[in-house]
Amino acid sequence: MQIQENISLKPFNTFGIDVRARFFASFSNVEELSELITRHSSLSTLVLGGGSNILLTKDVGGLVMKNEIKGITEVHEDEEHVYVKAGAGENWHEFVQYCISRNWAGIENLSLIPGNVGASPMQNIGAYGVELAGVFSNLEAFHLKDKEIITFSLNDCGFGYRDSVFKNKYKDQFAILHVTFRLRKKPIFHTSYGAIREELEKMGIKELSIEAISQAVIRIRTSKLPDPKVIGNAGSFFKNPEISNSRFESLKEKFPAIVAYPLVNGNFKLAAGWLIEQCAPQGFLTWKGYRKRDAGVHPNQALVLVNYGNASGNEIVELSEKIKQTVIEKFGVELEREVNII
Ligand code: FAD
Ligand code: EPU
Repeated sequence: MQIQENISLKPFNTFGIDVRARFFASFSNVEELSELITRHSSLSTLVLGGGSNILLTKDVGGLVMKNEIKGITEVHEDEEHVYVKAGAGENWHEFVQYCISRNWAGIENLSLIPGNVGASPMQNIGAYGVELAGVFSNLEAFHLKDKEIITFSLNDCGFGYRDSVFKNKYKDQFAILHVTFRLRKKPIFHTSYGAIREELEKMGIKELSIEAISQAVIRIRTSKLPDPKVIGNAGSFFKNPEISNSRFESLKEKFPAIVAYPLVNGNFKLAAGWLIEQCAPQGFLTWKGYRKRDAGVHPNQALVLVNYGNASGNEIVELSEKIKQTVIEKFGVELEREVNII
């Protein structure tokens, strides 16, 4: 196990922010992880996956530990389900493709989400009408102080929209080692969200399959979201805010074109991208496409903040705060960050 010193984290975060880590090491199993934190017990630690949901704002003074735990195994099956355990360091999209190739259904709508399996429970990843919580069985996590492995069931994880106990109550306390998914042998297709059906039609799909849904999602995502390999970003920077029915009604009266989705609890989820697009910094018509030095708002998706090359994490944070302010002023709605600031 090699411990590197004073290395740039630019290749390890999709925003492409160039800060340095005092110490950096990868671990491939829990023994290596345990050894790392024992040897460096005085240092603060940061567990890293694919770096696609973080914004680094300063050099990391402690030890960055990249999770490289691999392996995918079928642990159990019943009549309807197969239980598949994956190492936290497996690439998420490759894992999705692996499951599709074996006809294990449930995560095809989550195709092409960047990052690794181990971070998927952190914010209960979701896209195109499916959330991780719906296919989650359990996970094993290592308590970084007590050095013991704890198993978390679905109920233990406190999953919500882009939320879990690992983002709040247990922030920075655990390294997730493995996640076990409960996948279906016979698929239930989720095609009602967004443009999936339209895309399937365009593709000329006659018979629905998980493979076809995955391809449709990939095509939609590729057309909408910037590829971090080309332009630095971490996906949606803010969450879509949830408001009550009555607040929604009064906003709708003032802004008839407002984009919102009804929720089962009677509330509404607002499209933050729309809210941001309707606001602007002084002297501009909209935030969409705005750029100051290398920090900007994507020209096609106002919810995605981008780094055109050499932006600092603080420049992105500063831009996000200004956006937040204008959205509060115009709509009285407070945007909450999705991205983890480090
Ligand atoms: P990282 O960025 O490495 O880490 C995120 C957080 O989790 C950090 O706080 C880190 O310390 C912690 N962490 C990571 N791994 C572990 C571990 N094993 N144990 C403990 N803590 C850990 N998200 C969605 O939900 N839906 C989307 O549709 C979506 N689309 C995206 C599109 C683009 C273009 C991009 C760039 C991002 C998108 N995201 C989306 C966000 C991101 O891909 C997910 O949140 C993903 O799960 C992050 O995985 P990661 O391995 O890169 O996590
Ligand atoms: N919109 C605008 N202007 C914009 C962007 C969006 O008006 O600049 C409006 C459009 O009307 C559009 C609607 O907002 O129809 C929704 O936009 P989109 O379908 O692109 O989805 P989103 O709400 O911006 C959410 C998730 C994504 C996820 C997609 C698909 C959040 C915060 N974001 O985006 O997740 O992939 O839906 O399910 O919930 C992520 O979390 O990083 C992420 C990319």
